[in-house]
Amino acid sequence: MYPFSCYEESAAAIREKIGDFQPQVLLILGSGLGFLGNEVEDAIAIDYENIPHFKVSTAPDHEGRLVFGKLSGVDVAVMQGRMHYYEGYTPEEVAYPVRVAKLLGVHTMIVTNAAGAINTGFQVGDLMLIEDHIRIMGESPLRGENLPQFGLRFCDMTETYDPELRAMALEKAKAMGLRVQQGVYFYFPGPQFETPAEIRMARTMGGDAAGMSTVYEATTANHCGIRTLGISLMTNMAAGILKQKLSGEEVNEAAGRAQKSFSSLVRACLPELVK
Ligand code: HPA
Repeated sequence: MYPFSCYEESAAAIREKIGDFQPQVLLILGSGLGFLGNEVEDAIAIDYENIPHFKVSTAPDHEGRLVFGKLSGVDVAVMQGRMHYYEGYTPEEVAYPVRVAKLLGVHTMIVTNAAGAINTGFQVGDLMLIEDHIRIMGESPLRGENLPQFGLRFCDMTETYDPELRAMALEKAKAMGLRVQQGVYFYFPGPQFETPAEIRMARTMGGDAAGMSTVYEATTANHCGIRTLGISLMTNMAAGILKQKLSGEEVNEAAGRAQKSFSSLVRACLPELVK
């Protein structure tokens, strides 16, 4: 358990580096999507290892730095790379930066990820706006003593992914002619991809996409009152749907091909988050 003072120490160390800069939106970039962090203007980048209490991201292609600056004219904090449960971190450690962002004044988060499509109506390259999530494996990031400075012991999860933000993003995506879906993100702890039987189970339970991230950050953001827009990129059809095996390379290649559509959607949404 991190006491509240840890979060304060992390925020104070960041404040020393960013001065008066006031980030409004936290953007968490998932596997293969970190490139957007390089497009931040007037950037101040801080490596996670230089922020007290931060863990480092060990996943391939996750740079592991927090970039402050302007994206689409909006003052943002960008997590270029995130922490995952499969790296050995606890759910609380994975979600730690979200609470630090809250202390820095962030009110809205865009959380992104690469995911496998469970819904057979989806295609590789589709973007999915997250309507809701299912987490039946891996404990809650809120387990343990509640920190009332952040939120309630029993926090409501009815609108973890803000419906207004989702509607706005849907409109933007359609206006740009992007292939966009809406659906339920089914969390698997990884690091192995799922078995075909697990994917059939997830579909029966109502999952549309399978992924190994996002739910801890979204739960923690919801607890502390940060509005969340979740965007998944379908990098592959989930296990057992096609007669082929899954690989990390396939995920990264598909993410690479979708850079343009992903970045144009995020850039179009950003100014709407500060109106
Ligand atoms: N399963 C879980 N996580 C993923 C997948 C998948 O098929 N693709 C990208 N991230």
